[in-house]
Amino acid sequence: MHVKSLAAVIAVFVASDGTSYADLPTLPAFYPSPWSAGGPNGWDAAYKQAHEFVSKLTVLEKVNLTTGTGNQADLCTGNTGSVPRLGFRKLCLQDGPVGVRYTDLNSVFPAGISAAATWSRSLIRRRGEALGEEFRDKGIDVLLGPAVGPLGRDPAGGRNFEAFGPDPYLAGVAVAQTVEGTQSAGVIASVKHYILNEQEHFRGGISSNIDDKTMHELYLWPFADAVRAGVGSVMCSYNKINNTYACENSYVLNHLLKGELGFQGFVVSDWGGQHSGYLSALSGLDMTMPGDGVRNSTYGSYWGGALTESVLSLAISPFRIDDMAVRIMAAFYKVGRDTKQVDINYSSWTNETIGPQYWRSKTGNTTVNRHVDVQRNHAELIREMGAKSVVLLKNTGKALPLKQPASVAIIGEDAQDNPNGPNACVDRICNIGTLAMGWGSATAEYPYLISPATALEKQASVDKTIFTNVKSNWDLSVARAAASNTSVAIVFANANSGEGYQTLDGNFGDRKNLTLWNGGDELIAAVASVNPNTVVVIHSVGPVLIDHIKTHPNVTAILWAGLPGQESGNSLTDVLYGKVNPQGRTPFTWGKAAGDWGITTLTNSSTQQPQQDFSEGSFIDYRYFDREGIEPSFEFGFGLSYTNFSYSNLKVERQDIGPYKPASGSTSAGPTFGGINYDPESALYPEGFQKVPGMIYPWIVDTNIPDDTGSPDFPYAAHNRSAQPIPPAGGAPGGNPELYKVVYVATVDVTNTGEVAGTDIPQLYLSLGGLAEPKVVLRGFDEVELKAGETKTVTFDVTYRDLSNWDTEAQDWKVTSDEKTVYIGASSRDLRLHVNIQ
Ligand SMILES: *[C@@H]1O[C@H](CO)[C@@H](O)[C@H](O)[C@H]1NC(C)=O
Ligand SMILES: *[C@@H]1O[C@H](CO)[C@@H](O)[C@H](O)[C@H]1NC(C)=O
Ligand SMILES: *[C@@H]1O[C@H](CO)[C@@H](O)[C@H](O)[C@H]1NC(C)=O
Ligand SMILES: *[C@@H]1O[C@H](CO)[C@@H](O)[C@H](O)[C@H]1NC(C)=O
Ligand SMILES: *[C@@H]1O[C@H](CO)[C@@H](O)[C@H](O)[C@H]1NC(C)=O
Ligand SMILES: *[C@@H]1O[C@H](CO)[C@@H](O)[C@H](O)[C@H]1NC(C)=O
Ligand SMILES: *[C@@H]1O[C@H](CO)[C@@H](O)[C@H](O)[C@H]1NC(C)=O
Ligand SMILES: *[C@@H]1O[C@H](CO)[C@@H](O)[C@H](O)[C@H]1NC(C)=O
Ligand SMILES: *[C@@H]1O[C@H](CO)[C@@H](O)[C@H](O)[C@H]1NC(C)=O
Ligand SMILES: *[C@@H]1O[C@H](CO)[C@@H](O)[C@H](O)[C@H]1NC(C)=O
Ligand SMILES: *[C@@H]1O[C@H](CO)[C@@H](O)[C@H](O)[C@H]1NC(C)=O
Ligand SMILES: *[C@@H]1O[C@H](CO)[C@@H](O)[C@H](O)[C@H]1NC(C)=O
Repeated sequence: MHVKSLAAVIAVFVASDGTSYADLPTLPAFYPSPWSAGGPNGWDAAYKQAHEFVSKLTVLEKVNLTTGTGNQADLCTGNTGSVPRLGFRKLCLQDGPVGVRYTDLNSVFPAGISAAATWSRSLIRRRGEALGEEFRDKGIDVLLGPAVGPLGRDPAGGRNFEAFGPDPYLAGVAVAQTVEGTQSAGVIASVKHYILNEQEHFRGGISSNIDDKTMHELYLWPFADAVRAGVGSVMCSYNKINNTYACENSYVLNHLLKGELGFQGFVVSDWGGQHSGYLSALSGLDMTMPGDGVRNSTYGSYWGGALTESVLSLAISPFRIDDMAVRIMAAFYKVGRDTKQVDINYSSWTNETIGPQYWRSKTGNTTVNRHVDVQRNHAELIREMGAKSVVLLKNTGKALPLKQPASVAIIGEDAQDNPNGPNACVDRICNIGTLAMGWGSATAEYPYLISPATALEKQASVDKTIFTNVKSNWDLSVARAAASNTSVAIVFANANSGEGYQTLDGNFGDRKNLTLWNGGDELIAAVASVNPNTVVVIHSVGPVLIDHIKTHPNVTAILWAGLPGQESGNSLTDVLYGKVNPQGRTPFTWGKAAGDWGITTLTNSSTQQPQQDFSEGSFIDYRYFDREGIEPSFEFGFGLSYTNFSYSNLKVERQDIGPYKPASGSTSAGPTFGGINYDPESALYPEGFQKVPGMIYPWIVDTNIPDDTGSPDFPYAAHNRSAQPIPPAGGAPGGNPELYKVVYVATVDVTNTGEVAGTDIPQLYLSLGGLAEPKVVLRGFDEVELKAGETKTVTFDVTYRDLSNWDTEAQDWKVTSDEKTVYIGASSRDLRLHVNIQ
């Protein structure tokens, strides 16, 4: 993330209370940091190019690639140093997952949670590609997204909406499609936030404590899919894992990510997420952003000149600094930046055409904003995706779709334009008008925002429908009067959340409650009390408590419209009027009470080191509801259509693939590329060098270099460049390729039994058996378009990984001997067919 004041980001919870922390959970350290070695899907070729390039670099140039030049120092959210000698410009990193942040003439896409709600691989892939095109055309090298962390352990988690929901399988499919789409456009994706940044409160210091099995089966799972899809970058998160910061956590970076998952790209810190110098490098961090740090006021950075010192003092071995540079460059070549890069043509920090290139120092006046329109025809995709992400939760008596109603009343703030414009609130930290994105760094400026009121009024005029629009939530008598005599009353309400650097209405990023905002419940109740054809539309970042709405006899329809992006009103109108038959399925569970999820946000802590134990294991969202027998309002995977679908003829066939083979053998020895000049004189600032004030550079200021290796806890094992054993679950990007072999192929016939064409999302769930396992887990889905009466056969591949549990002892995936069952259903609780397979 990035906010304009970095201090706001890195401010962590600090109190002095004298608590003893001796008994807190820890992790084993893991050294050395695995070196990149190439791999399938383009990594080999990219690695070769990177290796050639890095071989030409001096240590100062290598350091330059790893270190941000400072917060707001240059045009982008994040800017590395450059290699002027070889004509290599700085790398430009930019937020965020809904569109290009901090510029103009860009599109705003549906947020991650809405993308997931489509359950459409092809739409998610096209979204990734369209995002990639827009970032590419602005001159950006690295798109800081997509997000699969937070996964969504806590339904109130402030940034859940950026990601694809709490099911790791759905998130894994969505992240892989997004990464492939984005990178096919020639931009590096940076999947974030790695890992366990599940709430905003105390994010800069909280320790997420987790066991090995849950880590693998839940939170690491979608990251494995991202790595397998070839993601070029991973962003480490703010929090600690078992009391070590994510960005200096050798267990999660070296062991899990680069070792077991075989990640070949580079790890970049979240903004201000770095807390140490050589230690973070040895632990697997490859790039620090935005570069600023407090280790040493001389350099203003943990790295830059300080990293050069660490290399010259041998605190960092040559193979490690080389690997850092190689990983950055391998990602660069993998996505084709060498042929697809254009000049950066915007400034994140000013809207003026002419302004300072170096904002922090206000120097280098030039044309910074070329106002390049990068939107292409993406509005069409956004409208389609917005419509196909709508989840129809209730529809009694075929209330929907609407067919030229005599009169319609639109009621509620959430249907309206923000009177001051859609971008009136910086980083969208307000809730005025219709909600189409959350707040924080995952925002972009809207080119325009079609409100529901605007689009519905247009439709009404086409249909000659009498149209009334009530803009306020608060005058209930006005709302009742408007609703009391219309064929249909469409009432809107929302619930927002965001990033925890700003509080909105008492919500510090995380939601303080799971109810609707701004009197939404009272507004809906007022409307429904007078109109027996009340349609409720909810824009929200996640689940809200709506059982009273679900059971209200006058509420004939409920639609969850998520966070649909710039075409919001058009997308919704397409669904309400049946131009698009809804296919959205809820990507999370809607409980009836806040306690139903079994998770509470840690909002108050008297200790300096807040601890969050993930003691529920993998029992989050539907896994928890199922185990506890809690009846939700709407279960994970649920969603209605304007037609009906039936399933028949489930067959499951075992494939002849032989037994699983754990990975074995060892890596090569740690390679080095080019020599290092250990003469500190050679690393001093060149004579007469004109610094841009405040910019972070790789040069050192003093030839008297501190010897960090003398420290008693210096991790000498980090210097071991001997060949290292390959973990049994490792061996290739995404883990052991054996994991992805198809063990069973399931086929099922899906029939459209209704009267109109529609798209079904048949879902495959597995019961892995065993007393301590979830009742079922999602392991397959498809998007099937069917004309009325049509039947299609749908095929699902069930892989070894899908069937396995993490075996802590073996440190590998194992298919247990417990009975296993394949289910096909329309949701996690509507399981209609099953076959026992073991
Ligand atoms: C490092 O990057 C900065 C900023 O782009 C540039 O001015 C400087 O010359 C680079 N240093 C080296 C040694 O290439
Ligand atoms: C962005 O502007 C730069 C010039 O600053 C130009 O080279 C590049 O082609 C522009 N991108 C597009 C898509 O026009
Ligand atoms: C992290 O802490 C948890 C909770 O104490 C513990 O179960 C787990 O084993 C620790 N993880 C590792 C890798 O040591
Ligand atoms: C930072 O490092 C430089 C070079 O080693 C040293 O001269 C200076 O005293 C250090 N400053 C602080 C505040 O530690
Ligand atoms: C640029 O304009 C947008 C849209 O009006 C606004 O939200 C943003 O704050 C402006 N940025 C700056 C740096 O002034
Ligand atoms: C840079 O341009 C801005 C806006 O045009 C102007 O206000 C400022 O004085 C200029 N600064 C320099 C150093 O020329
Ligand atoms: C309801 O609307 C009809 C025609 O649209 C009108 O004749 C009637 O008076 C209205 N009733 C109320 C209570 O507003
Ligand atoms: C929940 O929080 C929202 C947003 O702050 C607020 O509008 C609403 O009134 C709260 N709900 C309750 C029941 O307090
Ligand atoms: C439903 O609407 C009718 C008006 O048509 C009203 O009389 C009735 O009380 C409403 N029902 C409820 C439960 O509010
Ligand atoms: C937070 O905890 C402290 C110490 O336990 C307590 O004094 C304070 O009232 C709590 N604050 C809130 C908002 O609960
Ligand atoms: C779907 O089937 C159910 C149960 O038979 C029926 O009540 C409902 O009206 C059907 N819905 C549609 C849209 O055909
Ligand atoms: C270096 O790593 C290898 C492979 O893990 C190991 O066998 C060897 O003991 C290590 N060397 C040292 C000095 O720790």
